[in-house]
Amino acid sequence: MRRRWMAAVAVSVAGLLTLSACGGGDKQESGGEAARKVEVFSWWTGPGEADGLKAMREIFAKQNPNLEFFDAAVAGGSGDQARALLSSKLQANQPPDTFQGHAGAELQDYIKSGKLESLNFLYDDLKLKEVFPQQLIDQITVQGQVYSVPVNIHRSNVLWFNPSVLKKAGIDGAPKTVEEFVTDLDKVKKSGKIPLSIGSQWTLVHLLESVLLGSLGTDAYNALWTTGADWSNANVTEALENFKTILSYAGSPQDDWQPAAKQVADGEAAFNIMGDWAYSYFHNPSPGGLGKESHKDFDWAASPSTDGTFMWLSDSFTLPKGTPNRDGAIAWLTMAAGKEGQDAFNPLKGSIPARKDADQSLYKDYLSWDLEQWASDKLAGSIQHGVVANNQWRQAITDAVGLFQQDKDVAKFQQALVAAARNSGQ
Ligand code: GAL
Repeated sequence: MRRRWMAAVAVSVAGLLTLSACGGGDKQESGGEAARKVEVFSWWTGPGEADGLKAMREIFAKQNPNLEFFDAAVAGGSGDQARALLSSKLQANQPPDTFQGHAGAELQDYIKSGKLESLNFLYDDLKLKEVFPQQLIDQITVQGQVYSVPVNIHRSNVLWFNPSVLKKAGIDGAPKTVEEFVTDLDKVKKSGKIPLSIGSQWTLVHLLESVLLGSLGTDAYNALWTTGADWSNANVTEALENFKTILSYAGSPQDDWQPAAKQVADGEAAFNIMGDWAYSYFHNPSPGGLGKESHKDFDWAASPSTDGTFMWLSDSFTLPKGTPNRDGAIAWLTMAAGKEGQDAFNPLKGSIPARKDADQSLYKDYLSWDLEQWASDKLAGSIQHGVVANNQWRQAITDAVGLFQQDKDVAKFQQALVAAARNSGQ
């Protein structure tokens, strides 16, 4: 498959720079407050999100007693708010020391505008090419350079459900196909519960990616992100009709993904389609999570008609150019790339490690299922979480989804998606 944003070429020997030879770090050398403080920018503030970050922060403090983690997280699921602020900080050449971004097309924007340093020196120094899967390295390599350290793999296409609500509606287990899903949504509606919970607008783009994948199939979905892809065909129309039908069963939009997931945990709603960060929210003990029991209080399956495909995304950390504490940022990246950091972060974040050599025994319950699926499934990339579409394209899709939510006009929606693909600049 040809991805325009991806140019997987071998690493050039010119990238063989050492940590100390890379410049920067003056503040580190001069000592003082600025040298200690490492500003880490993310959007992991809420329940189910902050636990993982806290675990990494503890490892970081242990490994770097001379440095001080500074949490620059901006609240808001999926980082829509954070990215807006980040982009103005980068424009003004006032980057944080390191920021979280999604591997794939999203980071391309920052790379193309020259905002990121290549991390080839760190990959060589820490031998990271040996520990990350080749497919991941391929996806994050641009003309021989790697610009980010992936800390995890998340799965986007997960159907979360409340087994008791399903049972009361006369549904025996999770729906496997889009058709079964629609039948089940209708049964739940008749039972008086909310069939499908949804959150703020980005969660609808998240829902759309699962419905597109399930309706079109993996190859046709992946083809949407290649040059000259045909977004105007009848299969896309049918997928959008499915989206319209599914959306007609949605409850009132909640403020973010957590309250929507909570409706399922509380037995108010039957289904929610969300990434597997929802697992940590359901499962982590309070106060970080809801402390619910899997297979009893909540359960999961591949989102309808997507079994056998892993719609992936990866949270990654970067080294912005001109960062105030470059050495501190490199210390953060080193921790995030390491086995100890990844094994502390991921079991609490509801994700699996990007590293191949992580301690598999730490990944239990949903996470052991996740590891198996990652090893055996076909891959598709997430739209909302930065893999297949750059920021401009995703924004155009988000705007189209917002209008569609109001007017429910499939033909107009499809035209907007055709235009979004044409004008993406990707
Ligand atoms: C994703 C991110 C996840 C999780 C989620 C919900 O974009 O990759 O780590 O934070 O948003 O906020």
